[in-house]
Amino acid sequence: MKIINDTLKIINSKTDIVPELAIILGSGLSHLAETLTDSTVIPYSDLPIFPTSTVKGHNNQLVIGKLAGKNTAVLSGRFHYYEGYTMREITDPLFMLNELGVKKIIITNAAGSLSKEKPPGTVMFINDHINFMGSNPLIGLKVPDRFIDMSNAYTPSLIDLAAAQSKETAFKTFTGVYAGMHGPSYETAAEIRMLKKMGADAVGMSTVPEVIISRYLKWEILGISTLTNYATGISEKTLNHNEVLDTNSRIKNDLSKLISSIAGKM
Ligand code: HPA
Repeated sequence: MKIINDTLKIINSKTDIVPELAIILGSGLSHLAETLTDSTVIPYSDLPIFPTSTVKGHNNQLVIGKLAGKNTAVLSGRFHYYEGYTMREITDPLFMLNELGVKKIIITNAAGSLSKEKPPGTVMFINDHINFMGSNPLIGLKVPDRFIDMSNAYTPSLIDLAAAQSKETAFKTFTGVYAGMHGPSYETAAEIRMLKKMGADAVGMSTVPEVIISRYLKWEILGISTLTNYATGISEKTLNHNEVLDTNSRIKNDLSKLISSIAGKM
């Protein structure tokens, strides 16, 4: 595809680092991108494959450098289905990263907690998801291998690695199921009761499209949700995006350290 090739040309003219790991940063986590060494920062607006994110807390730049010694491409700023992009627009940058050499991905997000026992500030390693976004990024892809297997989509050995690396973190961690919703309105209390009955532990508005395409590309995948708030009806409080950003800023330093220690061992 021409815009993939044009994007690769621009990236290759700016850095010699060939990333094998990609990291997608969720709301408020752009801090991690600043911890890369030997880094090259390229605004998405300079790269034809990238749309522009409209959500506060997202930086909109591709940062390529080394994280704990590992050649890494950080997507600082992600695209959401609720912004009006198609599933393909959201995930096209991953096809470009695949051409660039990426084989593994850490996908982070902010999510609501479906359980009183998992308060805001807890971190969940995703072991499965429920796609409630009403679409799929493989729709329209005219390739015979579009019927991809989704069992163990979240690489079990990476979940084990993440759990082992989080023994001494300042926050609690656990492993669970992520429900991906269309948004951008938050869920109703009835929807949250439904998701809980279905086995979800956390709810958010991203990640599912990127996981499906990463799986299609046969990458290893680690999904990390920061539980930034109790989902609707789990607590008395009403929801707002500032709470999401506040919780993220509380744990962002510790979470960045954890992610880089995991990255170094991936
Ligand atoms: N619901 C959906 N998306 C979210 C939430 C939530 O409670 N918190 C952060 N992203």
